[in-house]
Amino acid sequence: MIFVLDEGFFIRCVRDYDAIGYFYRLTQLHTCAVSSSSLPVIGQVFKNDLPYYNQYRDTLKSIKIIKTPPYVDLDDPLAKADMGAYLVSLSAATISALVVTENREFLRLSNIAISPEDACNMVPTVGDVSFLDLKAVNFQYYEGFERAIDDIFKSGHYILGPQLEAFEREFAAYCGVTYCAGVGTGLDALELILMGYLTLGIFKQGDEVIVPANTFIATIIAIANTGLVPVLVEPDINTYNIDPIKIKKNLTARTRAVMPVHLYGRCVELATIYEIAARHGLKIIEDAAQAHGALYMGRRTGALGDAAGFSFYPGKNLGALGDGGCVTTNDEALYHTVAALRNYGSEIKYVNMIKGTNSRLDELHAAMLRVKLCRLDADNEARRRIAAYYRKHITNKEIIIPSVDGESSHVWHLFVIRTKKRDSLIDFLRGRGIHVLIHYPIPPHKQKAFPQCNVLSLPVTEQIHSEVLSLPISPVLREDEAERVVMALNDYAG
Ligand SMILES: Cc1ncc(COP(=O)(O)O)c(C=O)c1O
Repeated sequence: MIFVLDEGFFIRCVRDYDAIGYFYRLTQLHTCAVSSSSLPVIGQVFKNDLPYYNQYRDTLKSIKIIKTPPYVDLDDPLAKADMGAYLVSLSAATISALVVTENREFLRLSNIAISPEDACNMVPTVGDVSFLDLKAVNFQYYEGFERAIDDIFKSGHYILGPQLEAFEREFAAYCGVTYCAGVGTGLDALELILMGYLTLGIFKQGDEVIVPANTFIATIIAIANTGLVPVLVEPDINTYNIDPIKIKKNLTARTRAVMPVHLYGRCVELATIYEIAARHGLKIIEDAAQAHGALYMGRRTGALGDAAGFSFYPGKNLGALGDGGCVTTNDEALYHTVAALRNYGSEIKYVNMIKGTNSRLDELHAAMLRVKLCRLDADNEARRRIAAYYRKHITNKEIIIPSVDGESSHVWHLFVIRTKKRDSLIDFLRGRGIHVLIHYPIPPHKQKAFPQCNVLSLPVTEQIHSEVLSLPISPVLREDEAERVVMALNDYAG
């Protein structure tokens, strides 16, 4: 729960013994904040109350300050009665918070105002364990996002401006490559790489691209949409990633590239793929949509092949507040081609060298992603801690837990278990209030979208799709929630 303390109650929390007790209880169990509209009043009180001045500053630092929105409704009954109280409730409403106040009029007029006693009695309910609480994930960055939005307003740039340039520089440096081009989605990132190679004459229509059969369908759509032929290769049942040994059997005279997917956040084992690519002159195009920050032999995804496509879909390890993606590469010619293709084929305004499309990561998303990028490693560490906990404590023999190959090679976008009794396990977990998902229920080659592939027999892929189940994991999943997941899984009797 998030509580916004109104100025009267906040002032008492600094200097009155009974209110300090409430304050400690509230901040231990919940997130607390004050509205920026309260700061002048609070500041004025303590400016003239020197004995408590330092205590006021420390108290303020220990909670969040949330911004008061400018869209004021002067006809609102609370605004008419008490503008100060109205502004506090307006701030609270933007983050779905309740207002803690001792002001009787405020309590009477607002349906989100609550007394300190009632707030303290609101013990966080033992609710469901959500699969991914995106609202909580992004709330951590609220202040940074506010500043980012203000920066965009100040700059007046919305597309292909300084925020995108800065994000591209920072993400390229993070991955360890020279170039990054922000684009509209992860799917576009993969398509633009392929279109880039077609434009440069390195690929031709009808050329083949080796791709894991066990992937999110976007990987395969990208290849098909650009007039190339996806060649589906079985995964390794232990890693869920493409089985490098099986690539060789699928090579033909038309093979031009391998597109490994770091599925669920686990880096593909690349040694054999490097060898094959070198011997046959193939491009390696990483689908890194699920693996921001994962390391292979000390190098990050995005820098492991000739080019890589990332997705910034909201649920990803680095997720925007909408769609987004990018291409990373060390290849200067490919970078300039992709940078032009994403912008109608133009790198210089109104000079169109090639026929492109419109797929740009806008300034607002770039600015927000810059805020989140600073904490990507810490977020990935939080995911690793949960994964380690699951791996250590899930002991039910009906369940196969994911294997790892060195801690840093996995960023646990998803924690995927396997079981022969998936449907009954899902029902059991639902009964315990634990939300799980299946990634993915139907393999791409069995989808109606690819009728030409429906006849293929890919038994490993099909087995994986019939058994996998993704457990809750995210940087904000609490220890007690992970414990509940483990307890439920171990209690499941099959
Ligand atoms: C492996 C993989 N590739 C590509 C994509 C496509 O990314 P987007 O949804 O941003 O288009 C996704 C997105 O879920 C994905 O998981």
